[in-house]
Amino acid sequence: MPHKIAQIRLVSSHPEVYEPCDDSFALVDALLADRKNLLGHRPHVCLEIGSGSGYVITSLALLLGEGECDSYFVATDINPHALKVTTETLNAHGVHAELINTNIASGLEARLAGLVDVMVVNPPYVPTPEEEVGCEGITSAWAGGENGRTVIDKILPVADKLLSDKGWLYMVTLTANDPSGLCIEMKKKGYESRIVLQRSTEEESLHIIKFWRDPEALLEANEAKMSNKGGSGNGIGSLLSQLSHMSFWRNDK
Ligand SMILES: C[S@@+](CC[C@H](N)C(=O)[O-])C[C@H]1O[C@@H](n2cnc3c(N)ncnc32)[C@H](O)[C@@H]1O
Repeated sequence: MPHKIAQIRLVSSHPEVYEPCDDSFALVDALLADRKNLLGHRPHVCLEIGSGSGYVITSLALLLGEGECDSYFVATDINPHALKVTTETLNAHGVHAELINTNIASGLEARLAGLVDVMVVNPPYVPTPEEEVGCEGITSAWAGGENGRTVIDKILPVADKLLSDKGWLYMVTLTANDPSGLCIEMKKKGYESRIVLQRSTEEESLHIIKFWRDPEALLEANEAKMSNKGGSGNGIGSLLSQLSHMSFWRNDK
């Protein structure tokens, strides 16, 4: 039996809102392919940044609803028309999400820090002149600036703040965005990653990357940070020696 995802005929539209396209379908297909893991994950809070038509957040809500996960859904978009269209799409499928008109997740950090178990993002990733980034209306759906990375590079640190210890991030990227470079960047923040779906269309080569926090990667990242700060040794030894110096110094006071 096919699993429930949003039905295209029930997805609402507006001339200024991005319609579900190859990238949206690839992201939902990646979620479907990871369905068993997602159901086992039992996420409490799920967040989509840039919901557009609502096709992805609605599909995620339907998919997790099948497993009777008691998840809370939040979606943001910088384009106010997108929130109206997302509301209509969610309602047409009988599911609910809290919708917020904001830049990435601005204003949500205090409330959601460390709480998001699943984050999904199909960002504006097309390489464009920098002035097009953040333009009003439909242009904001694709304009990604230099190498298509301007918005992506702002989203990743926000994701790092909002994701819970068991949090997963699924993100759409293009070859031009340098997906393996993004994985290396996230490794420095303590994340492992895997390209869970790769799809070439006539126009682009899409990669869906899944990121998750990994204790070993975090330890390596912390070690690298400590040795960059010019610590006396390297690795955990350096960390321990710095800690003992700190407590010695405190006792001295
Ligand atoms: C490629 S579309 C994806 C839409 C939908 N998620 C999908 O997959 O069909 C990117 C979406 O991100 C929104 N967006 C662009 N920049 C944003 C920002 N800084 N903060 C929040 N949303 C943004 C756009 O308005 C657009 O709806």
